[in-house]
Amino acid sequence: MHIFKRDANLVHLLILLSAVLSGTSRLAAQDTDRPWKNPKLSPEERAEMVLKQLTLDEKLALLHGNGMAHNENWTMPLTSLSNGGAGYVEGVPRLGIPPLIISDAAYGVRDSGVNGRYSTAMPSNLGAASSWDTESACAYGTVIGQELRAQGFDMTLGGGVDLVREPRNGRTFEYTGEDPLLAGTMDGSMMKCEQAQHVVGDIKHYVMNDQETGRNFVNAIISKKAMQESDLLGFHIAISIANPGAVMCSYNRVNGAYACENPYTLHDVLKTDWGFKGFVVSDWGGTHSMIAASAAGLDQEQPMADYYGPKLKEAVESGKVPLSEIDDHARRVLFAEFLSGVVDDPPQKGVVDVAKGFEAAQRVEEESIVLLKNDHDLLPIDPAQVHRIAIIGGHADVGMISGGGSAQVDPPGGNAIMPPGKGATEWQEQIWFPTSPLKALRTKLPNTKIDFDPGTDLQSAAALAKNSDLAIVFAYQWESEGMDLPSLALPGNQNALIEQVAAANPHTIVVLESGTAVTMPWIDRVAGVVEAWYAGSSGDKALANVLAGVVNPSGKLPITFPISDKDLPRPAIPPPPRQDHSRAVADSSPHPISSGPPAYAVEYNEGAEVGYKWFEAQHKQPLFPFGFGLSYTKYEYSGLTVDSTAKTVRFTVTNAGKRAGTEIAEVYARLPQGAEESSYKRLAGWKRITLEPGESQTVTVPIDSRVLKTFDEANNRWNFAPGDYAMFVGGSSDSTPLTGILQVR
Ligand code: BGC
Repeated sequence: MHIFKRDANLVHLLILLSAVLSGTSRLAAQDTDRPWKNPKLSPEERAEMVLKQLTLDEKLALLHGNGMAHNENWTMPLTSLSNGGAGYVEGVPRLGIPPLIISDAAYGVRDSGVNGRYSTAMPSNLGAASSWDTESACAYGTVIGQELRAQGFDMTLGGGVDLVREPRNGRTFEYTGEDPLLAGTMDGSMMKCEQAQHVVGDIKHYVMNDQETGRNFVNAIISKKAMQESDLLGFHIAISIANPGAVMCSYNRVNGAYACENPYTLHDVLKTDWGFKGFVVSDWGGTHSMIAASAAGLDQEQPMADYYGPKLKEAVESGKVPLSEIDDHARRVLFAEFLSGVVDDPPQKGVVDVAKGFEAAQRVEEESIVLLKNDHDLLPIDPAQVHRIAIIGGHADVGMISGGGSAQVDPPGGNAIMPPGKGATEWQEQIWFPTSPLKALRTKLPNTKIDFDPGTDLQSAAALAKNSDLAIVFAYQWESEGMDLPSLALPGNQNALIEQVAAANPHTIVVLESGTAVTMPWIDRVAGVVEAWYAGSSGDKALANVLAGVVNPSGKLPITFPISDKDLPRPAIPPPPRQDHSRAVADSSPHPISSGPPAYAVEYNEGAEVGYKWFEAQHKQPLFPFGFGLSYTKYEYSGLTVDSTAKTVRFTVTNAGKRAGTEIAEVYARLPQGAEESSYKRLAGWKRITLEPGESQTVTVPIDSRVLKTFDEANNRWNFAPGDYAMFVGGSSDSTPLTGILQVR
């Protein structure tokens, strides 16, 4: 009996062993069959191996979308496989190459609610850029990447980095500011960490997609030199940091040619000069040709196959499009899949970690809120002095607003101000998250009487303010893809409301929930202004923490706030011409537009003088300058030394106040006198420094020489002019107490 049992055990063992061995040999056979499965090889090698196995049909399948979920104009037989996302690209199942299941995800995963899921809304991209914190940007991207995967997606359409040269652009909230170094660094850091979660990363909208007005045909006119030193530089920095699998070309034209068939921006700059190895994906419906687009470097058409489907096959077979181009496009898509880890680790649907998302969203928002004005240190609220607070306007009793369009993240349970029973939220509808700052403040200050007035009746709002120790007016400015703002003024009667409340109570604070800069005709009449941006899923708690002083604000503006729209390079966005297709099209660009939509050129004559550079060069005083933001403590700067060889600056920052805080110390450089660009300074570096009261820290900040170079258009190269570069160090672009000289020989 005993012996029998032992034999049985032995047999068991042998069976197990042979199973393991045969499994191993099967695996080994598979590995020899599929050498590209070896993660030790480079993404380039792996992509090349797979490419060699592909039929023409399989290659072409990688080059186009299959429709867009929830869009009846854009459906194809395979659209239903898109998991409710923006796009679906077939993989190569026989070779283990997964499909691309694509979702929008600018500040969180889009279309969750409509798909019965949940996503975290991070603060708007512009808001998050106000932290100037690459770690916070990384946390931002990590949350989005993890939630994409948990929802079954393996490619993101986030990563907006177009410079804010037109602050009325309805998508300003999706971008990371007006300075190429800051915007590129923040956006690149977000996308690097997002892609690290094994989703194909994306940087968009390449390039000069600076307004929504006429976006499908507007022709952005700008010199190559200026574009290189501004918008292209921002993209280059973001792409160098993120190394994304994809870059999305934009709807507009650039100097005549559509961005998705632009030989200069796609072939010459992105792929040749920058060596970008991923694929170029068209914005949705942004493909306008086949032969021209393919030759210029468009790799994938979305969301349909109008040009890159059967027509492309025919063109290849008849020799109109060389097979080498198809190979290049397909290789790039495969490369992106290997690079991002999608092949080795395809997404598995799971449950979104809501608590983690809330945590991260709150932390990012706490670093992003910018304190713009705080007379007599009215903030933080001191419950010993302030017994009655009036909260007025901005639907503060129910929630906070979010940015619309393809970036829109669905709030849990639907729009907080949607009439009951209305159901799903819609494209271009003001969506409010159920994050009531009124409730959050009541929780934070339990012994203070806090009343609410909706602000619709100015008299009643003023009366409540008058009977309170402090009035906080919530003002909002809503933005969305597909529209631009007529001006930076607060819409509706909000300016009048603020004036009335401030007249009734000098202790009035304005909290702004905006996607871009806001003009403030009432600025001298209010005691304080707090910019909360679109504050995301935990915006209420973050804001309450800042107002109550649990968090000391540290955010700094990533864009200039002008006094008036008239101070911008264009007092208004030029209106597009009437849609008169019969009219002969005259175009000032070197590539005349032959047919189709009306000629509508916007000339960016300000060139590389975007934002604060424009204000400085034009000697215009902004309302609040780029890089500006107050704190509940104050910082002093001293002891600048410049190391011209190492290209670093060293200085000391002291917390001269009574609270711990974090200062963003900014370093600017002005090009040598005589250089044509010397009329403005450029952000060249920065450092976040956390200091206890009375503490000093001496820091060394490297100067980013990319922003000091000038582009020589004739020779297509960058010059680093010898000479004396004036260095400026301080707490904002127009407050730089320390100056020095960096010598370049
Ligand atoms: C937007 C893109 C977006 C795409 C897919 C387009 O309208 O411009 O940013 O990723 O739609 O939703």
